[in-house]
Amino acid sequence: MSRSALLPRTAPFGDAERAHLDAALGSTTALQRAWLAGFLAGLDAAGGAAAEAPAPAAPPRAAEPLTIVFASESGNSEKLAGDVSKLARKTGFKPKVVDFADLDVAALGKEKRLVVIAATWGEGEPPARAVRAYGEIMGDGAPRLDGVEFGVLALGDTSYAEFCAIGKRLDDRFEALGAKRVMPRVDCDLDFDKPAAAWIKDALKALAPAEPAGNVVAVDFARGTGADEEAEVSREPVVVEVIEHVNLNSSRSDKETIHLALAFEDAAPAYEPGDSLELYPENDPALVDQILKAAGLEGDSVLRQALLAERDITTLSAATVERFVKATGHEEARRLIESNEVRAWIEGRHLIDLIETYPTKLTAQHLSDITRPLPPRAYSIASSRAEVGDEAHLTIAAVRYTTHDRARAGVASVHVADRIRTGAKLRVRVKPNKHFRLPANPATDIVMVGPGTGVAPFRAFVQERRATEASGRNWLFFGDRHFTHDFLYQLEWQEALEDGSLARIDVAFSRDQPEKIYVQDRIWEQRRELVSWLDGGAHFYVCGDAKAMAKDVRAALVRAFADVKGLDAAAAEAAVAGLERSHRYQQDVY
Ligand SMILES: Cc1cc2nc3c(=O)[nH]c(=O)nc-3n(C[C@H](O)[C@H](O)[C@H](O)COP(=O)(O)OP(=O)(O)OC[C@H]3O[C@@H](n4cnc5c(N)ncnc54)[C@H](O)[C@@H]3O)c2cc1C
Ligand SMILES: Cc1cc2nc3c(=O)[nH]c(=O)nc-3n(C[C@H](O)[C@H](O)[C@H](O)COP(=O)(O)O)c2cc1C
Repeated sequence: MSRSALLPRTAPFGDAERAHLDAALGSTTALQRAWLAGFLAGLDAAGGAAAEAPAPAAPPRAAEPLTIVFASESGNSEKLAGDVSKLARKTGFKPKVVDFADLDVAALGKEKRLVVIAATWGEGEPPARAVRAYGEIMGDGAPRLDGVEFGVLALGDTSYAEFCAIGKRLDDRFEALGAKRVMPRVDCDLDFDKPAAAWIKDALKALAPAEPAGNVVAVDFARGTGADEEAEVSREPVVVEVIEHVNLNSSRSDKETIHLALAFEDAAPAYEPGDSLELYPENDPALVDQILKAAGLEGDSVLRQALLAERDITTLSAATVERFVKATGHEEARRLIESNEVRAWIEGRHLIDLIETYPTKLTAQHLSDITRPLPPRAYSIASSRAEVGDEAHLTIAAVRYTTHDRARAGVASVHVADRIRTGAKLRVRVKPNKHFRLPANPATDIVMVGPGTGVAPFRAFVQERRATEASGRNWLFFGDRHFTHDFLYQLEWQEALEDGSLARIDVAFSRDQPEKIYVQDRIWEQRRELVSWLDGGAHFYVCGDAKAMAKDVRAALVRAFADVKGLDAAAAEAAVAGLERSHRYQQDVY
């Protein structure tokens, strides 16, 4: 039977009805047709529209279960898990979304079908909330997964050496544990929308049973859990006006941190304290001109505009070099790849270094093929709508450094620091983070650890708790280099101490004395008081540097528990892990 004529001529319909039904059913999958069969049968059973139609012969069959697990830090994988769930439900599955944080690894072998969506963080590490389950899956005690069908969608960023490492390792591991890969893995870069959507569609087809066993499917109309609980904020970029642009560091500081106040043209999108804004930057015009010159493309104004606003003209990954070789056939650059030294060579270098080191005449098409779309950068929102209305504030540290004798500038942060002023327009969109939220109960105490720009979301937290007259106490740990030059929002914290919206602040200025002092040292000094707050139910938040600070703070808290409560190392670790599992230890680190 062809797809264009599913219904036999003997079906109890007129020609026109049969044509309509064939047109509608022609593009459905076996699972969707089974769903419809079940749905119509359900209507009959309920005495609905089709009550007089004959009952189907086969017994009811449950919708096919599908478990979607995600390992996410900043919400992308979680959002995609929600997308899978929605589409899966539409196509007749009974989906269940599970955060790696809550994953029962021992029970994984009971699953029939698994969709795994995993991001990579740190330098090839799992997202913080996924560490426990990831360790269990990789460990010797992992269960066999024979009989489980699976597919992995990996999220990452090609600018990292360990691109999509966690997705790759999980994909290998599931196979090694006996699971059957029914959908090849796709590794997504930051512009993952299209490849992820295509993968999801194909994965659901690959995971669908060849033909349903019965013709009646019980349908689960319940909403998914986890991934789609909060009302969705619009993800469309909007234009905002810069109404304040202030360097928070003193003129004698070696740092530059810009406080940016942005006004929305209409009502501000419904962001919550803890969310970030993604900012669409423009590249440095001087760098664009250098690239055009090195490529022999000076004078192409259309290309210049595209390179300014649309293409990532700094990131140099192994994939960029490969694309360069493919586009140009450059022999010397090919030898770099073949010599296996490409990973070492790209370290600290950018696209301009590649083009200048391996000169060749390029076309606009080459540059488009070699580069990826310019990704937006996330910044923690440093304000609460309850206090600032239709504005959003950001705290952006300018990134400047020198590698291979060339001064480098962070694309977005230096765009904001050097080329944006009051009155300028920027494009932004909200990036929600429901795993970094104030306690639901306003009477709950909070402890906030936010050195450097990590303080940004805590300005939002304090504003929110002041505006809503939350009775819980707020304790801030702040740190930076020098008290006199780098005390971000110092006056505001003093006012907050005076009006009671900050119960206490402990500061660590690392370079004001011969020995370095950091926030984790203050945590250790204040461990008795801190543990007493946590025993009283306080929530603990960390924001800022992921590489060192967040790990050191966690380690300090484990040591604090051990010391104050007389626990051994394992019990103290379990106490902190317990805080994480109960969502009382939350972090937003980068
Ligand atoms: C959820 C989230 C919230 C964030 N919140 C904030 C915030 O509130 N404030 C804030 O300032 N930032 C924040 N960030 C970081 C921000 O998104 C950008 O990553 C940061 O501003 C740098 O972007 P850029 O475009 O200026 O630099 P890019 O052009 O992206 O360059 C940064 C890259 O340069 C390289 N690099 C940097 N320094 C050196 C060095 N010394 N030596 C060698 N290489 C180096 C590294 O590869 C680094 O990844 C946040 C990030 C996330 C994910
Ligand atoms: C601090 C930081 C470290 C990252 N490290 C890696 C990495 O080592 N490898 C990689 O492929 N991607 C890395 N990424 C990119 C993320 O995997 C990517 O942004 C992904 O879309 C995040 O998904 P999530 O929102 O579900 O956590 C990193 C991103 C950040 C901000």
